[in-house]
Formats: sequence, structure tokens, C-alpha cells
Amino acid sequence: MSDEHLAPGAAIAAPADHAQPAQPAVGLPLWLLAEVTYRCPLQCPYCSNPLDFARQGEELSTEQWIRVMTEARQMGAAQIGFSGGEPLVRKDLAQLIAEARKLGYYTNLITSGIGLNEQKLADFQRAGLDHIQISFQSSDEEVNNMLAGSGKAFAQKLAMARAVKAHGYPMVLNFVTHRYNIDDIDRIIELCIALEADFVELATTQFYGWAKLNRALLLPTREQLERAERITNEYRAKLEASGNPCKLIFVTPDYYEERPKPCMGGWGSLFLTVTPDGTALPCHGARMLPVEFPNVRDHDLRHIWYESFGFNRFRGNAWMPEPCRSCDEKEKDFGGCRCQAFMLTGDAANTDPVCGKSPEHRIIVQARSEAAQPVQPIQRLIFRNDRNSRELSQP
Ligand code: FES
Repeated sequence: MSDEHLAPGAAIAAPADHAQPAQPAVGLPLWLLAEVTYRCPLQCPYCSNPLDFARQGEELSTEQWIRVMTEARQMGAAQIGFSGGEPLVRKDLAQLIAEARKLGYYTNLITSGIGLNEQKLADFQRAGLDHIQISFQSSDEEVNNMLAGSGKAFAQKLAMARAVKAHGYPMVLNFVTHRYNIDDIDRIIELCIALEADFVELATTQFYGWAKLNRALLLPTREQLERAERITNEYRAKLEASGNPCKLIFVTPDYYEERPKPCMGGWGSLFLTVTPDGTALPCHGARMLPVEFPNVRDHDLRHIWYESFGFNRFRGNAWMPEPCRSCDEKEKDFGGCRCQAFMLTGDAANTDPVCGKSPEHRIIVQARSEAAQPVQPIQRLIFRNDRNSRELSQP
């Protein structure tokens, strides 16, 4: 799963009957990310799924997903992303899309394109799917297939990107960039233009899940990033001058920033993830935190969103330690990312070490210096697959 759908936004005040005087105003769960499965035919070494995905429980049934979508919609959710793993492995995907559309959601399919075909595209179109995002690993077939772990992946993605356009969908192409492909940014953009992408997301790897495990091999240098951004800007100008509607979105990694990102637009503010086994999370990474999160099998979403411990744990700013507590930017960045604070410092309540004011900022400085090491063979990466997941998460 990529991070395109995680853009932070402003919180919206909850209906009056849910406002709690002693609590910060609680926003609505506008964005529902339905991670319908962790199964995936590919093995990207920067996947944001948890390392122990192979040990997670049974997937929610079709009926359970419909209940989740219904409850979220009643609470104000407007947009749904079907993600995974690879959502296409779910045989009920067209049915879920149709139900979501009936409920009034704007529907997005976030896919690798593997398992997609003309029949499914027609089925999804009948179901009312609004939008498709296909991810590529590289503009180079060999690198793409090495990273994906499938000799046929690149050809299939090309064919499906063309088919998506032929069916008239708005199409996002997503490239997660890192040391093995970022220097090819011009070729990546050329490929996207040739495929008539409406939006291109050039998203530098965000270091969660498997990407965190492989960070030393994946994090580009500052120079590589600056070059990639400069070339992207040149293409933006060229596209605009020629009237080409293709939009390029460049997402930088926070490892080169001095202030943290306002992750998820604030904890429990607008973003709700439901994982394949029904665990509800305020972000796709939170599963790793030593925080108890509720499951949709046990509670309705209203309780989960407004009442549960997990969703309230980092809401507002009362939980903040110094230096966040007295920082005049705390309403802007919310102390950064709780998952990153936990991964890098061992305490999710710490200031995100990306922040230059964090006493642990040296962790980020150290990671930057690792990026200057020579590029390692791709085979050194630890790939996201069942075997590695089970080994890494041995009880
Ligand atoms: Fe940032 Fe979880 S990914 S809070």
C-alpha cells in the first residue's frame, strides 16, 4: 500500500451531541481506508503493511465490511479507499465497491494492477468505481520486476494502465521512489505522460513497516532528492506550457525536514483505517504501537471513533511532553507522527525525532548519513513475503 491517500487535512467539528466539553473537538472520520486483505502477489520491500502481517487473524466477511462502510458513512465518511495487500484478491471486491457507491462514497481502488483484467474493469465500472490508482515499482522493467518479485509485473501494469484509461477512469500512477529508482525520475515521468496519467504521485518512500526495515538501503541522499524535485518542477512547467492536464505530485520524505509532518491531519481527526481482521486504527501504521485498538467485530464505529482508548490516546495536545507542550507550532504539526516517534525512540508520546527541537533528532541525522553509503545490490533488501513475515515475527 502506498501513502497517497494519507494527505492531512483540517479537522471538522463533530455534531453537538458528540462534543465533550473537557475534550478537544473531535473531527469526523471523512476518509475510510478499507484494507480488505493483507494477501498480495507482490513483495515490495517498502510495503507499509505490518511486519507480522502473515500472523494476523481472519479477514472480515463481505457482510462485516458492508456494516463498517454503512456505519462510517452514517458518521460522515465521504471517501473510501480499497487497499491491502492487493485488494483484487478479494472475490467480493466488485460487490463491496457497489455497496460503497450505493451508500454515497467516492470510491478509490488502490492496486498494483496484478490480477486486474478487462472483465474486472467492466465489473467495477458497473459497480460505480470512481477512481483507480496503479502503483509501479520503476520505469525500468527489470528493476520493476526485481522489486515486485514477479517477472510479469511490469508488462501487466502497462497493459492495465492502458485499459484503465480506455475505460475512461481518472487514473493516478504511483511510484514510490528510493535509491534504486529516484535517479530515473525523468524516465518515470515520461512513462506516465505516455500512459496519459491524470495524476502522478512521485512519493519518496515513507519509512514504516517494511520500508523502515530496509531504510538504510532505500533512503536517497539529499542531493538525489533535490535533483528529482528540480526535474519534476521542470516537467510541471513543460506540461503546463503544452496544455497537458497531467499533474505531478512530489512527496518528500520527512527525514530531510527540520519540522515534522502533521501526520494524518492529527490523531483521530479525519482518518480511519480498518485492517483485514477488523482492527480499527487512526492510521495505517498504528498497529505496531503498544496501545490497545478496538475491533469492528466487537464495537460499532461510533464507539470506536469517539469513545475508544486507542482513538483518544493522542487526540488534542494534553498528552504532549516537552518540547511539544510549549511549542507554538503544536497546533500545526501535532507533534508529528506517533508511529515514527515510537519506531525511532521507543515511546509513541515522544516528539517525532524529525523535529529539530526533539532531543532525539540525532537519530534522523544519523539516518541521513547512512544514505551516503554506496548503493547495495537489490537482493540485499528484505522483501515483504509470508516467509519473511513469519520469521520476523516469531513469537
Ligand atoms: Fe503517523 Fe501513525 S503513521 S501517526
